[in-house]
This record gives sequence, C-alpha cells and structure tokens, in this order.
Amino acid sequence: MQAEPTVQELRDLVREFEPGKGHVMPALHKVQERYGYISRPAIEVVARQLNTTAALIYGAVSFYTDFRTSPPPRTEISWCSGPTCRLLGGDHIREALQQTLELPLGGHSDDHGYGLHTGQCNGTCHEAPMVWVNGTVVGPLTVTSAIQLARKVKAGA
Ligand code: FES
Repeated sequence: MQAEPTVQELRDLVREFEPGKGHVMPALHKVQERYGYISRPAIEVVARQLNTTAALIYGAVSFYTDFRTSPPPRTEISWCSGPTCRLLGGDHIREALQQTLELPLGGHSDDHGYGLHTGQCNGTCHEAPMVWVNGTVVGPLTVTSAIQLARKVKAGA
C-alpha cells in the first residue's frame, strides 16, 4: 500500500475498466487496495474512465463503509459489526474502544496514528466478540481487554 498517488498512476491503475459494464465497484476496490483510500483525484479519474460523473462515483464511495476517502491510520482497529460479535457483547466492546480512544467509529487521531473503523464479519466468529488490528484478529475480547488493547494502541505500542 502506498499513499499520494499521482493522476497518471491512477489512470494507469484503472485503465482496464470500461463504461457500462458494472465496473464502478471493481475500479474503486482496486484503487483502495493499492493506495489504502480513494482520494478526490481518484474519484475524478474513475469517473472519467467510466464516462460518468464524479458525483456518482462519490455516491458509491460514501455509501459503502468499506471505502475510505482519507489515508488509513498507521494502526487501525476494525470493530466487527457482525451478528455473532454483537450477540456476544460487541456493542460493549465498541463503547469501550470509543471511550478509551476518544474516537467515533470512522474516526482517527489527529496525527493518523490510530483509528477506529467498522468491519464486517468475515467468518472468524469463533473469536467473537473481536476486532481486527491492522487486519489481524484479536479476540475474544472482554470490556477490560478491549480497554487494555485501546490503551496500547493509543500509546503507540
Ligand atoms: S460476527 Fe464478528 S466475526 Fe463473525
């Protein structure tokens, strides 16, 4: 993953996608996989490539919580919003993380050192209630262990 793509890099990245073939989501996923987020220039490049408007592309980006429009934090906690995690106390885990990190869901620290994001179940429910820390499963969590995790992340550990 790298940050700050140039317009030419973005054009090269999405060159394979064509208008009228349902390529909006694949193009956006490709941009986010490469750069970690979808910048305003990326939205414009994708719109031009697919012969549509930036407003339509922005609508797709803002609708799906998986997409982000700013660079990811160095350490990101993704809270699992899936049903098993929530049945097993996931909402209490989220509250503990939010209070300790002093962040809303979708927020990040001013220096982009850490952030809290909503994640979707990907089948690791045996670890519920859980989070991912930069993609690594951490669970099952208790409120106490969630607070400890958030304190470590906040301290840069
Ligand atoms: S519901 Fe959280 S991992 Fe499945």
